[in-house]
Amino acid sequence: DSKLCFHSSFAFGVATASFQIEGAWNVSGKGESIWDRYTHEHPERVFDHKNADVADGSYYKVKEDVQLLSQLGVNFYRFSISWPRILPDGLSNNVNEDGIRYYKELIEELRKNKITPVATMYHWDLPQSLQELGGWTNPIIADYFVDYARVLLDNFGDTVKVWLTFNEPLTFCENGYGGDDAPGGRSSGFEDYMCGHNVLRAHGMVYRMFDQKYRKITKGVMGITNVFPWIEPATTSREDQKAADAARQFMFGWYANPIFSQQGDYPQVMRKAVDANSKRQGFPRSRLPYFTAEEVEMIRGSFDFMGLNHYTTYLAAPGSGKISTKPSYQDDINAIITQKDEWPKSNSTWLRVVPWGFRRCLNWIKNAYNNPKILITENGVSFEAGLHDTKRVNYIDAYLRALHAAIYKDGCHVLGYTYWSLMDNFEWMRGYSERFGLYQVDYESQNLTRTPRLSAKYFSNVAKTGCLPDDYTDYTYN
Ligand code: BGC
Repeated sequence: DSKLCFHSSFAFGVATASFQIEGAWNVSGKGESIWDRYTHEHPERVFDHKNADVADGSYYKVKEDVQLLSQLGVNFYRFSISWPRILPDGLSNNVNEDGIRYYKELIEELRKNKITPVATMYHWDLPQSLQELGGWTNPIIADYFVDYARVLLDNFGDTVKVWLTFNEPLTFCENGYGGDDAPGGRSSGFEDYMCGHNVLRAHGMVYRMFDQKYRKITKGVMGITNVFPWIEPATTSREDQKAADAARQFMFGWYANPIFSQQGDYPQVMRKAVDANSKRQGFPRSRLPYFTAEEVEMIRGSFDFMGLNHYTTYLAAPGSGKISTKPSYQDDINAIITQKDEWPKSNSTWLRVVPWGFRRCLNWIKNAYNNPKILITENGVSFEAGLHDTKRVNYIDAYLRALHAAIYKDGCHVLGYTYWSLMDNFEWMRGYSERFGLYQVDYESQNLTRTPRLSAKYFSNVAKTGCLPDDYTDYTYN
């Protein structure tokens, strides 16, 4: 029989993030987040000039949303906790009990419905008050993150067994502190690397605290989610291969190498390039900070599993070899690679459908980091807003087939798969213009009606049976 099935222990889930769905931005004691501030101050920078003040109203819809999950038949739900809803000014001496109550209610409702909660501590909504101290560029943020994590583990540690410290540091450090594509700080060519550095330290510190003080009580596991678009050489030439390899290190190795490699620390190709570029730019010290020996020790191996977000694949060719007078991470990477974009266009500006890239990505991780346990924490597509979303169905089906091959043919150690997203939501700078949901959200309707798309039926069938149906053969996307 040709039916492709996953092992019965393989888990299926869906994901969301606090800022993208909750709404209720200033009620019940919640503090202001950097995304509240940014979308209010710069509506023109968001594609449709909208904000997430109301979003999906999930703050008021715990039961309803858990029913959606229950209908899907998923094993787990990945959600994120809003730091300013728990600590309105970011600091642990002022805990907002209403915030604690909200997540307790959500977790309780999930457990009643036999859905495992998977919680992300930080999915980009930093308390505004901490941004004013420099946000992720101020080393003290790591201590504040530890304090916040302690509050979460004290309150939810008995019921949440799967934790992710961060979602996609690459994205929030680069967009927030390297450019102004997200709230953050100045971009002088230092801040993006400072952000990354402090995030890695904060992750390591929280993992060690979890390991030493909470693991026994909670019997939980902890990881971090990084994003890894596959980077394929544009041609088979040695130059293109070299460029692709360097790009993988710059985009994924930056955050993965210090945690998951034997060596610990930043990838060598990145270390060398940024050190050399900094020198050429006249800086006596590298723009990429150095970890102390203790920090390397603390960060190396700080995981029980690897969280992985994967959406798409890019082509790489060699970069200009030149650095500009305005230093930045982006400038460093541009010197090494040129990103080529030859995939069929979709109506997303960035997302191309390349299922085999997913398989290569998983194999690359397997080889680079000694086959770690991986939880796919996001994979999804935004092509269709309508209910009959055959392209989304085809995307999921094709990516699941690639995943199946990576696990059962190549031996990659993948524990579960998460579709992004349970429902349409506030898609950051793209506002509500890109829709990732298995459920469509009607933003015109009074109660923000959720309606299952065809993809919800498809995914629910996969989640419930653990098998891919053999009647999906249409993998064309053009
Ligand atoms: C983020 C999500 C986002 C998704 C689609 C991921 O990078 O974690 O918050 O909605 O991409 O753009």
